[in-house]
Parts: sequence; C-alpha cells; structure tokens
Amino acid sequence: MCGIMGYVGGDGASGIILNGLAKQEYRGYDSAGIALCLNGEIKSAKVVGRVSALARLVDDMPPECMEARSGIGHTRWATHGGVTVTNAHPHESADKMVTLVHNGIIENSKEIKADLTSKGIDFITETDTEAACQLLAHLYRGDALAAMTCLAKSLVGAFALVIMFKDRPGEIWCARKGSPLVVAYSGGASYCASDPTALLEFTHDLFFLDEGEMAELRPDGCRFFCFDGTRREKESIHLSWDSVMSDKGHYEHFMRKEIEEQPDVLRLTIDTHTILTSVSRERDLNLPVGMMKRVNRVQFVACGTSHYATLVARNIMESLDEEIDVSADVASEYRYRGVRGGDDTLAIFVSQSGETADTLAAARLARSKGTHCIAITNVRGSTIDRETEHTLLSMAGPEIGVAATKTFTGQISLLALLVMQLLKDRGTLSASDEARVIGGMRILPSHVHSILERESEIKSLAEKYSDSKGFFFIGRRECVPLAMEAALKLKEIAYLPSEAYAAGEMKHGPIAMLDEHLTVFAFVPDNDLREKTLSNVEECRARSAPIILLANEGDSSARDHANDVLYIPRTERELFPFTGVVALQLFAYHVARTLRRDIDMPRNLAKSVTVE
Ligand code: AGP
Repeated sequence: MCGIMGYVGGDGASGIILNGLAKQEYRGYDSAGIALCLNGEIKSAKVVGRVSALARLVDDMPPECMEARSGIGHTRWATHGGVTVTNAHPHESADKMVTLVHNGIIENSKEIKADLTSKGIDFITETDTEAACQLLAHLYRGDALAAMTCLAKSLVGAFALVIMFKDRPGEIWCARKGSPLVVAYSGGASYCASDPTALLEFTHDLFFLDEGEMAELRPDGCRFFCFDGTRREKESIHLSWDSVMSDKGHYEHFMRKEIEEQPDVLRLTIDTHTILTSVSRERDLNLPVGMMKRVNRVQFVACGTSHYATLVARNIMESLDEEIDVSADVASEYRYRGVRGGDDTLAIFVSQSGETADTLAAARLARSKGTHCIAITNVRGSTIDRETEHTLLSMAGPEIGVAATKTFTGQISLLALLVMQLLKDRGTLSASDEARVIGGMRILPSHVHSILERESEIKSLAEKYSDSKGFFFIGRRECVPLAMEAALKLKEIAYLPSEAYAAGEMKHGPIAMLDEHLTVFAFVPDNDLREKTLSNVEECRARSAPIILLANEGDSSARDHANDVLYIPRTERELFPFTGVVALQLFAYHVARTLRRDIDMPRNLAKSVTVE
C-alpha cells in the first residue's frame, strides 16, 4: 500500500516525483504529498485526493521550488488516522530537521509517541508515521547513518522509509523492513520508489532493498548498509519490462487495456513454459531430483484473485491425478491453521506483486518447517522472488489496474503447466491427458481473441443488468473458482453486492435471498455437470431471479433456461475458466463503466497489500 518516489540529481525534482507518483497511484490514492529540498529549506505540499490535485498545488508553489534538485513524494492508503491533509505524507519533525514518507505500519508508534511527548516534543498528526519522523529527529546529531541505525533498531512493524535531512541537501536516505523499496542510479541521479515500474524510464537495472537494508542516495551513486550500519555491496537486477507497457495508450482504462492483452499473455506463457512439461525431471525449477516422488502433499497458498488462480490449479491437479493430496488456502489462514509441512510437502505460493504481506509470511512459515517451496510471481526482484529458492515468473508484464485481470490469466496458465510438470515428475500424468491439455492450451489465445470480439454483446448485457440489486455467480467444480473471481471483480470495480456459490449450495440457504431484483449468472459448460447445474438454475428461476448463462457455443438449448445467454468457445473441461474469466472481466468492466465507477482505482483498495 502507499506509493513512494524519491529523487536526487541534476534535474528539477518536482516533475520527476509527480510523474513517479502518478505511475504508482494504484498503490494508494487517499491523499498525496511532496517535499522539495531547496537552499537549506524543505518545502512541502499535501492534498486530500489524487496526484493530479497535488500537481495543481505544486504549480502554485513559489517558482523557485521548481529549481529543487531533490525531493520525496507519497500517495497514501490510510491505515492510522483519517484521510486529511495533516495526516498525508510527507511528515516533518517538530524541529523541521527531518522530513519523511513511509509505507507500512509502525506497531510501537504509541510507545514512541508517549516517550517523546514526555520529553516535550509535540505531535500534530494521528499517524503512526509521525512517531518515526520525530524519533529520527530526536536521534539525529549530524551523523545520518548513526541516527538511521538507531531508528531502524527502535521501530517495530513494517516500513519503507524515505527521508530527507534539512542540513543534507544532496542526500536521500532509505530503510526497508517488510515493505518494498527499489533504488536506482542512472546518469548523475539516484531514485527510489515502491514499485519498479516508476523507475523503468530511467534504467532497467534496479537495486531491490532486502529486509533490514538501508541506502544513501546521492547524485553520484548509491551506498547500501545493513541495519547495524555496516556497508553492503549489492548487485542490481535487470528488469526487462518495457516502460510503455505501463502506459494506458488509447484506452479509457488500464483495466480494459489489460483485458485485451490476455491472448498475448497466454501465448507468451505457453511458448515460454511448455518446456516445463517437455522434460521429465525437476530440472527447470532446479528442484531436488526425485522430490515429487517423495512429496505426498501439495499446498497452494495465495490471497484474493491469486487464491482463485490456485483453486483453478488445484482442480486441474485433482482432475489429472485423483490420488494426490492437494489443498488451496488463503495465506492469512494458512499461517494460523496449523497446516502440516516438511520434506514430504510442496507448497506453491502465488502473488502477482510478490509483496503481499500474508503470502510472504505464509511462505516464511512453510520454509521454517522444511517444506519445499515454489513461488509464482509477476515481478522479478520482488520479495517473494528473492526469498524463495525456486521462483517461476508469470509473463503478464506490468499490471496497473487495481483489479487483477491479465495477471490472473498469466497465473492460471503457468500453474497449469507447472501442475503438469510436477505430475509428470511424479509419474502420474498420462500421455493422453498431457497431449489433451497442452493441445487445449495452445488454442486458448484464439478463443480469448474471439471473446474480445464479442465485447459489444457483453457490453449490452452489462448495461441491461447494471441496475440489478446484486448478483449470484454459480457453477460447479472448475466453475466455482471462476464464480469467485467474477464476483470479486464486480465487488471491486462496481461496488455491487455479488456472491459466488457452488451451484448445488444455493438451496442450502442463499436461495432465500432471490427475487426479481437479484440476478443469477450461472456457468454451464457442456460437460458431465451441465444437467445438474441447469437443475440448480431452474430452482433459481422458479424464485423469479433473472438468469444469465455462460455456455459453450452450439448449446442452443441453454436459451430455454435463461433470460440471456453468453456463448464462449468450447475448451477442454479443465480450461473453461481460462476463457470464461475474460467474458466475466468484460461484463464487470462494463457494469462498472455504466455505473460511472473509478475503474482503475476503486475506492478503499490498493493494488499491493503490504500490511497483514
Ligand atoms: C484482485 O483484483 C485484487 N486486487 C486482490 O484480490 C489481489 O489479487 C490480492 O491482493 C493478492 O495480490 P497479489 O497477487 O499481489 O499477492
């Protein structure tokens, strides 16, 4: 949560910082602020609202502020303290010596505040961050490294801190514990940001701060330190993403652009990773040879949409190997459920950002039990990538819309291939299943393309149902995770009540809610469960609920059961979610657009959830 941008170099800092904040606005967007260092003074501007409002405020700052060659900025996702200008970052110490921005939560802020207040220091905000700011000023005696070292030891919780000292105009200091921070140096300037996408226009060689690391940024380079103050040599990581990938282009919303990129994501993933299934050893992942023969338990762990991707993977695994013991947990529960682990267990952690606090903590727990761990992430250099011995990168490219779309498709395609490799290593994947599923995956890009071509039909349907009081998404087996993802999309971007149910569960309670104002969107692929699902649909129809069906092309009798039917191409049974999700993303997008929602930055959300 929260986006941070820092710059020190030879150019005007304000434009670079505002531009960097705009690129990271999806991380949090309650309020925004900037501090610029100029002639021994630090000038700030803060606003409740978006970066565009901050830019207008910066335009009104004294003209000399545009000359500032260093500065820090922040977009906030409020945790402690309301959304007010006072609580917006940057924060300044009472003696004006320290100005800083923060992403994370300082858990011992109350204790620090009580201690400093007793020493006569006045606090003015409701935030936890101010405690770090005032404490650093209290510790600072002219030696920045010494003060930073003491501060890092004193803070409990999670933090990415970016700091300017009033008497050190050519320097920016950073510290990281628990919240991401990436640093770069290029052509006489140093930069830092929460998200690598903000730095790609300057360089693709990035330094991802590790847990317990600090950095000093100057125009002539960066130095890295451990929290105990010792110097650290650090290797940069090359990120091949193109900076135009994070541009909206001619699209009205990033989400719409990202939906359209899915055929490419599928093609790239399948072309790059079918090697996974073409070898019968764990070689590509560098897993211990023979591991899958020893493993008798597979656990998928993730949050939100990534969790739904793992449910798709779990279903594929169960469908291809009926013997295997496979589970899929949300990370925040996995940690406290007392799950089993050890050498006979493989845990697969999925996080597009690679920074989700619950998923990181779950992975650390699994490692501490001696469980074999694989991470799947979309961000090279992210914390989960660096902390997990075996990582697979999904091929979605940067995703800016807060609602995940193309990263879900990247995850499920990579997971399907990984599942097949693991089962092959285990000796339980039949050649016919392998050929069938891989063959089915190869035609997915063209299927998705044909769904995108039906956008006007999906848009009309979305407009027709956008005044519905709420939605039930129902289906069976492979359609249950699809229903969950569809319901989440509609909640996130349209703010409409939407529930996902296994179709057979409706009569056990939720059916009581149905009337003519609640729409049931049911998934009825043409397979062994079609008739059973249609019986559940009829039960809903009998309670006057309007019915939309998602069915396979050619299933003309589906029309007998519904008010409207959306047809999508036939796939292998396990692959229905791959095509279905695209139709449902478009449906959610057009409902939200009809309702004039803020689609790329829905209220109350942030793209990267770095607090537990
Ligand atoms: C998806 O639309 C959401 N933005 C959210 O559920 C997200 O998938 C979840 O927070 C997990 O994020 P991660 O994949 O980066 O770990």
